[in-house]
Amino acid sequence: MHPMLNIAIRAARRAGSIILRGYEQRDQLTIESKGLNDFVSEIDRNAEQAIIDTLLKAYPEHCILAEESGIHEGMEPFQWVIDPLDGTTNFLHGHPQFSVSIALQHKDKLEQAVVYNPMTEELFTATRGQGAFLNNRRIRVSAVNQLQNALLGTGFPFKEERYLDIYLQTFRALFPTTSGVRRCGSAALDLAYVAAGRLDGFWELHLRPWDMAAGALLIQEAGGIVTDIYGGRDYMYSGHVLAGNLKIHKLLSAQLQGIIPPNL
Ligand code: IPD
Ligand code: CA
Ligand code: CA
Repeated sequence: MHPMLNIAIRAARRAGSIILRGYEQRDQLTIESKGLNDFVSEIDRNAEQAIIDTLLKAYPEHCILAEESGIHEGMEPFQWVIDPLDGTTNFLHGHPQFSVSIALQHKDKLEQAVVYNPMTEELFTATRGQGAFLNNRRIRVSAVNQLQNALLGTGFPFKEERYLDIYLQTFRALFPTTSGVRRCGSAALDLAYVAAGRLDGFWELHLRPWDMAAGALLIQEAGGIVTDIYGGRDYMYSGHVLAGNLKIHKLLSAQLQGIIPPNL
């Protein structure tokens, strides 16, 4: 295993322990609002700090982009992209679907990925060029090749009302063509599920880099594709993401043609 992946796994497990302890005592947490429907507790912050401490202890010159504390400059062209708790709303409600997401980028290329579900102890990992794994077993995207047989994941734009109308148009276009759509509440885990073939495709508007980075490498290494909602490469910046196995991604992309205005 690549040493940087090993460190990322250690960091994710430490965060996972903090999250599990917090989950048992969640009625005692201090919950703050960062914006519309956007909450944070000391568990998000403590988990993030544990991840950063673990990564920087091993790689003190690396840069960090973390959801709660932002950018930490470093001297080397490596950047860790961290969501310490993806699915905070689920976590706060005792809805057991959330994850820790850690990715490493080197000069804009995704190199390492970890998505960890502390409730199920499912650990999704990938190293660029080495495939994707779930608890050390190789995973691949599904072989489903027709939309009518496809199970999709999605996320609602609950923090950004301005995307609601356009999102509902995408939902109207995609939902009737598929065998089902799931909204599980952790984008990083949704993307990991695409990599594992548990979902055949996924779309969401206005995600942030820490929601997507690890899941994107998992999907690529599992033989799938991740693009922006127009089929381009800009998803990390626009946040509008479309992912799937190659066939389902192509079919979804065709369904969305003409629906999404340019420069959304
Ligand atoms: C959120 C989750 C959710 C997605 C949101 C994200 P957070 O992340 O990934 O599934 O729909 O867009 O912001 O705030 O729980 O880390
Ligand atoms: Ca997130
Ligand atoms: Ca988060």
